[in-house]
Amino acid sequence: MFIHKPVMVSQVLSCLSIKDNDIIVDCTLGEGGHTSYFLKTIKNGKVVGIEQDGEILESAVYRFRKYKQAFIPVQANFSHLKGIMDEKIGGKVDKIFFDLGISMFHIKKSGRGFSFSTEEPLDMRLDLSRSLRGTDVVNSFDKRKLAEIIWAYGEERFSNRISQFIVREREKKPIRTSLQLADIVKRSIPRKYWPKNIHPATKTFQAIRIFVNDEIEILENALRDGIESLKYEGRIGVISFHSLEDRIVKSVFKELTRGCTCPPDFPVCVCGKRKVLKILTKKPLTPEEKEKKENPSSRSARFRCAVKLQSNVADRVKQDVKEIA
Ligand SMILES: C[S@@+](CC[C@H](N)C(=O)[O-])C[C@H]1O[C@@H](n2cnc3c(N)ncnc32)[C@H](O)[C@@H]1O
Repeated sequence: MFIHKPVMVSQVLSCLSIKDNDIIVDCTLGEGGHTSYFLKTIKNGKVVGIEQDGEILESAVYRFRKYKQAFIPVQANFSHLKGIMDEKIGGKVDKIFFDLGISMFHIKKSGRGFSFSTEEPLDMRLDLSRSLRGTDVVNSFDKRKLAEIIWAYGEERFSNRISQFIVREREKKPIRTSLQLADIVKRSIPRKYWPKNIHPATKTFQAIRIFVNDEIEILENALRDGIESLKYEGRIGVISFHSLEDRIVKSVFKELTRGCTCPPDFPVCVCGKRKVLKILTKKPLTPEEKEKKENPSSRSARFRCAVKLQSNVADRVKQDVKEIA
């Protein structure tokens, strides 16, 4: 088994306030780095571990075999969270956790072309039952679409040049491997603009991977479903590594902290909006310097956490009642 080092463990455990009887859903199980701490902390609770990659899930199942019924592995995409909850729990849960992106296993061991430094087929699928692969994107998408993907999901300022080079090179020879793509990207960015701390192909690889696995588009609904599945006073925690993901988390959390939006002169609330969440991390938490040094891949992690509010009554009515009282 290739053990991925879980990031920000102490912040996650304390913000989520993991307790004895908790029912927890880890929506991005991986090899179970965070879940191993959840399982150690709860005594009579349960952890549902969702993972779309069957290969990595297998190692987690083996790792947690001693926990028996306390660990419920599910091979699925977290976009099906609602159905999974109905089938496996049949009620609301105490904690929902996401640690977005890919695992070290994918980069170092999967052989699916996630790394720009080893020669592997450019597959990039997390779920091997999906049909679209990295090679399909780089060999068949038109120049504009490629540039859009690299810009949107990689925030790569050389997206146009990179897509031009990709299209030019694939006319000579199809792009089949990770090193082929890395080399094309390197050649398309003028050397003086190569980033200092990361490989020049980092953002392009990230963009294609995100596109292949549809990582951004499903996030907002999954977060809403997760929050919907929480008991009152239940908590949701999300670690993201990409500014786009973090923006989605921030905006969903923020929207759900707003209550009634009726004009102030309305005697009672007619919009029906309730404050659903209280944000526990005003700004996203980041790893401590020590962790960043020991585990450089934690550098860009941002953690946001919120608690679900008990709010059955319209805020405006509550406010009025308070004022009258
Ligand atoms: C950053 S890793 C999680 C690492 C884990 N927390 C640990 O410490 O070992 C993210 C994992 O989530 C999985 N994943 C990503 N998107 C997913 C999705 N939409 N549905 C299910 N699993 C997903 C990936 O395959 C990967 O194994």
